[in-house]
Amino acid sequence: MVNQPERILIVDDEAPIRKLLLRKLSRQGYRCEEAGSAVEALEKMRADSVELIMLDMKMPGKSGIDLLPELKANYPATAVIMATAVAETSLAIQCMKQGADDYINKPFNLDEVALSVDKTLEKRRLELQIKEYQEHLQQKVDEQTVEIRRLFLGAIEALVFALEAKDKYTAGHSRRVTEVALAIGRELNLPEDDMEDLRWGSLLHDVGKIAVDQFIQNKPGKLTPAEYEHIMIHAQVGAGIVRPVVNDRVVGMVEHHHDRYNGTGLHQVVAREDIPLGARILAVADAFDAMTSDRPYRPAMPVEEARQEIRRCIGTQFDPVVASAFLRVDTSRLAVDKSKVAVVMDTPARP
Ligand SMILES: [Fe+2]
Repeated sequence: MVNQPERILIVDDEAPIRKLLLRKLSRQGYRCEEAGSAVEALEKMRADSVELIMLDMKMPGKSGIDLLPELKANYPATAVIMATAVAETSLAIQCMKQGADDYINKPFNLDEVALSVDKTLEKRRLELQIKEYQEHLQQKVDEQTVEIRRLFLGAIEALVFALEAKDKYTAGHSRRVTEVALAIGRELNLPEDDMEDLRWGSLLHDVGKIAVDQFIQNKPGKLTPAEYEHIMIHAQVGAGIVRPVVNDRVVGMVEHHHDRYNGTGLHQVVAREDIPLGARILAVADAFDAMTSDRPYRPAMPVEEARQEIRRCIGTQFDPVVASAFLRVDTSRLAVDKSKVAVVMDTPARP
């Protein structure tokens, strides 16, 4: 459908012919202008190009045949219909090979003219739509991919929050860890892409707890070695859950978030800088939130005491660079509000 009447430029050296075509095509609903020569036609096109040109093949000075290649080169989106005497049909066909969209014979049958104009403009609209579709196809695919990924990640995020909300020890943990991790990331001047990965890694790091026995997770006493090992499978399980929808860096954060810097963690296969940076950041943020939160087996530790504990574990449990960045963060300024959400159960006490 056409929103605005399309414009037609009628180019012919004979004024009565221009008037005849103008009257007919205006009645058809088109906006028509006229030009008495090729030079005038070019001036009008330069000022404001039209959707279609009715071009007389034979004109004094520059002919329509000469003008056609120039028009197609400079105004490829403008359709051109050649007007020709019956005897010049072979020339008209030649013009079509050079890019003209149709030709009509003089003397005009006005209904045929109107039909040719309608068909040519319809074809032009379709061609423009196809061109636009092709140009935007990749962009649309990319947008859809991003949207699907966003919806999927949102669903996993909702799953994490639902898991945490099941009891007072876990509610709000991932959100708080995310906030602390991002504060560390800012201290380390991480680029925007890394910060986005860190945000997702933090929000999703404990999604694997869906596979952890609730009784063991909330056990008030000390865990047996077997129970501790059972709880710690959540890092591997979580990596498997998020792998189809996030990049490898986020998977690495989830998989390694309980790794100890010196390599002494349970079933740990990498150490020091081989542990993904995001996971080293998560380890600190996670431990801080765990220590400053009530647990089934102990009350929350004061913030300053937790900071001292992190300082004490620099080089063993925590990366010195990451832990130092954390210690520069004023955690009292973070919007972590534990009065609204009771907490955690993340890093379980080792047996
Ligand atoms: Fe965890």
